[in-house]
Amino acid sequence: MKNKGLIASVAVILLFLGATFVYQLGMRSGTNQASETSEPVEKAEKTVGILQFVSHEALDAITEGIKEGLKESGYTEGDNLTIEFQNGQADQSKLATMSQQLLNKDADVLVGVATPAAQALANVTQDVPIVLGAVTDPVGANLVADMDQPGGNITGVSDKAPVAAQIKLAKDLLPEAKTVGILYSSTEDNSKYQVAEAEAAAEENGLTSKSYAVPSSNEIAQMVQVMAREVDFIYIPLDNTIANAMQTVVQEANKSKTPIITSVDTMVEQGGLATVGQDQFTIGVETGKMVAAILDGTAEPATTPIYTFSDGETIINETQAQLLGITIPENLKDEAKLITTTPESEASDE
Ligand code: TRP
Repeated sequence: MKNKGLIASVAVILLFLGATFVYQLGMRSGTNQASETSEPVEKAEKTVGILQFVSHEALDAITEGIKEGLKESGYTEGDNLTIEFQNGQADQSKLATMSQQLLNKDADVLVGVATPAAQALANVTQDVPIVLGAVTDPVGANLVADMDQPGGNITGVSDKAPVAAQIKLAKDLLPEAKTVGILYSSTEDNSKYQVAEAEAAAEENGLTSKSYAVPSSNEIAQMVQVMAREVDFIYIPLDNTIANAMQTVVQEANKSKTPIITSVDTMVEQGGLATVGQDQFTIGVETGKMVAAILDGTAEPATTPIYTFSDGETIINETQAQLLGITIPENLKDEAKLITTTPESEASDE
């Protein structure tokens, strides 16, 4: 009897241990699976400081994209990520102060959205990694030594536009045009480079080009009036000052029915005629992913090449085409994304 009792107890204990073992095995494989699908939760807490140069549609979309790219890579705001965000409102002294403030927050990575913001951040640190969000010409803006081997604490994403394709599109839409006027701000390093590229592309397409630099947004309306008398169409590079005043540009240009070829989808949505451009949100997503790789420790700015896009999407504003009396060629109609908008000048004239 005693023996039977002992055997029974041992059996019970063995059964219990066995069950626990099997249960734990199950748990372990369970957590394994969980860690594969919800890996984000396990990443360490990080802080990212974002400095955006100014608010305009494109830069706002890029900042949203950055958050999305971080999220896709496992860093979610409010969960394992703190984002310190500042908007410089196109003011150089604000940009300088805000850069210092972001640095003082001990950010793990700093992100400069648009060239002037990135330059302000670069002025305050040579140690903390800086990621460029949509900086057209990182070398020309003195931010990196080389596109493939940045060399210092800075890398990022360039939104260098397909300028030749944009001028070619202008030629296809406006076969009669002979003169292009390039409108940009003299204070932005990002624009200088693209203006030179546009001048070369114009020449290749048999167009005469003239450039019109505004010292600030105050001169834009008057400058567009002058251009309307002197050129057949207006070309706008990736210029923040002009992007911020796009409504004024469209209003003035529409008065004289002067077409506007832009460098970006958002400017076509605001009343430009057409562009071959990159999706601004996607530029942000790529930037966010690069920030995440640096946070992970799998990438270092010095050896991470600047990311560039090789092409863009053709976008044509049908409402503007109609207003300007332009017939969109059939082949372009097939390949382009056609959009419609509320005509700005008509709305305000009536
Ligand atoms: N590339 C610009 C810069 O370097 C920033 C920018 C991104 C931009 N998207 C834009 C400017 C759209 C005007 C319009 O500063």
